[in-house]
Amino acid sequence: MENSNDIVIDVKGLRKSFGDNHVLEGLDLELHKGENIVVLGKSGTGKSVFIKCLVKLVEPDEGKLEVLSKDVQHLTEEDELNALRRKVGFLFQGGALYDSMTVEENLKFPLKRMPDKPSYGEIDDRVHEALKNVGLEKAIHKMPAELSGGMKKRIALARTLILQPDIVLYDEPTTGLDPATSKEISELIVEMQETYQTSSIIITHDMACARITSNRMKVIRDGVFKYEGSYEELKKSDDKWLMDFFE
Ligand SMILES: Nc1ncnc2c1ncn2[C@@H]1O[C@H](COP(=O)(O)OP(=O)(O)O)[C@@H](O)[C@H]1O
Ligand SMILES: [Mg+2]
Repeated sequence: MENSNDIVIDVKGLRKSFGDNHVLEGLDLELHKGENIVVLGKSGTGKSVFIKCLVKLVEPDEGKLEVLSKDVQHLTEEDELNALRRKVGFLFQGGALYDSMTVEENLKFPLKRMPDKPSYGEIDDRVHEALKNVGLEKAIHKMPAELSGGMKKRIALARTLILQPDIVLYDEPTTGLDPATSKEISELIVEMQETYQTSSIIITHDMACARITSNRMKVIRDGVFKYEGSYEELKKSDDKWLMDFFE
């Protein structure tokens, strides 16, 4: 089923250091269309740096980096980079909403900044569809401060998905949420994958989230992806270091 034509992210030998801190020492990853890859790793091992490289929020030192067939490092035109960023949704760690805007305004914000701004009618339709997707139609006029942590996360997710990105990069989407809410968010990520055929990289150390969302997992250790496999395959490993994640 898989073939090289359906690769949406192609990374080879990606390296990034900050001074003497050699964070990424040769990462390889191929993400296929419609696939969810979970990236697992201990804190401070470069997971966020890795996905930031994919949209040039961090400038890598070395390596091949193709996203949707574009050579990210050599995108020279600002327009090209912006076009790519509209196709690659990013749910940031913390997933902050604009506190001074209502939920509706938060969701309209990315749509209004599109070069071919949709009509008012279409913007309203997209906002309603996005809220329906995350089961929060009733929250449309609320301020972020009135929402629970789980609701904020769902709205942030709706805002990421409202541009209908081909790829979504999730940075610790369930951190700080209780187990029941984490499960809801994880299930929502899978629903979005199924509804829109999005391809995703999901950074997490929440093993329930990893189990629910992953088609495949890659584990970062010492600057490289040291382990790879399905959740079930990795769970069966007798590697002590890896077993700690599954306890
Ligand atoms: N902009 C930066 N400047 C200097 N060091 C950074 C920068 N961003 C990240 N780092 C360092 O890179 C390493 C990996 O960080 P990060 O990717 O955030 O880890 P995590 O796996 O927890 O997401 C850390 O040692 C961090 O201090
Ligand atoms: Mg991080």
